[in-house]
Amino acid sequence: MSPPEPPLVIAVPKGRILEALGPLLDRAGIDSSPLRATDRRLVRRSADGALAWIFLKPDDVPTYVEYGAADLGVSGRDTLLEKKHDLYTPVDLGLGRCRLVVAAPRGKPLPDVPRIATKYPRIAAEHFAKRGVQAEVIAVHGSVELAPLVGLAHAIVDIVETGTTLRENDLEVLETVAEVSTLLIANRASYKLRAAAMRPLVDCLRAAVG
Ligand code: PRP
Repeated sequence: MSPPEPPLVIAVPKGRILEALGPLLDRAGIDSSPLRATDRRLVRRSADGALAWIFLKPDDVPTYVEYGAADLGVSGRDTLLEKKHDLYTPVDLGLGRCRLVVAAPRGKPLPDVPRIATKYPRIAAEHFAKRGVQAEVIAVHGSVELAPLVGLAHAIVDIVETGTTLRENDLEVLETVAEVSTLLIANRASYKLRAAAMRPLVDCLRAAVG
């Protein structure tokens, strides 16, 4: 008798996207109860033992999947564009839709060599290089909208979802850098070697997204 298949490991980000993922799994007919547990366990098995969910900081999800510590994962296109991991992206889950934009204080034109504060230094550098603008990119880790208000930067490259943070800090969008949503990502080797377990899951998710 052959040994039982190990579970498919799925890496998911703790936080906002996790809440939106539950209803999508329900529509796909995938047991979402491991995502709803409120304990501090970082690995949770599905009732039938076929899936093992692991819970990570969003930026770490693609790393675990690329190195094969997880077979599948759920990650924002922004993170993937910034880090350029070697992965498959079989399904756009359509969750967490937002935009990556350049924004600056209302009515203030950018100087020829603008300083740009961002959590996405690579995306920002590539964006301005493509436009032939010599920008100085300053990496920060959060509250990015503060940077132009206190003179750290002339503009920011950041995520806009509702627009509330920009509005309340008197900033305006100058241009869109990329449309962002949440993608299902897959380890390249697992996608082939674990195809029998993985494909039905991928198909159900694709159908649930519509
Ligand atoms: C994100 C993003 C913006 C804000 C946009 O920040 O960096 O600051 O949300 O959302 P809005 O358009 O709906 O206002 P997050 O809440 O992740 O916190 P951070 O500032 O610590 O990065």
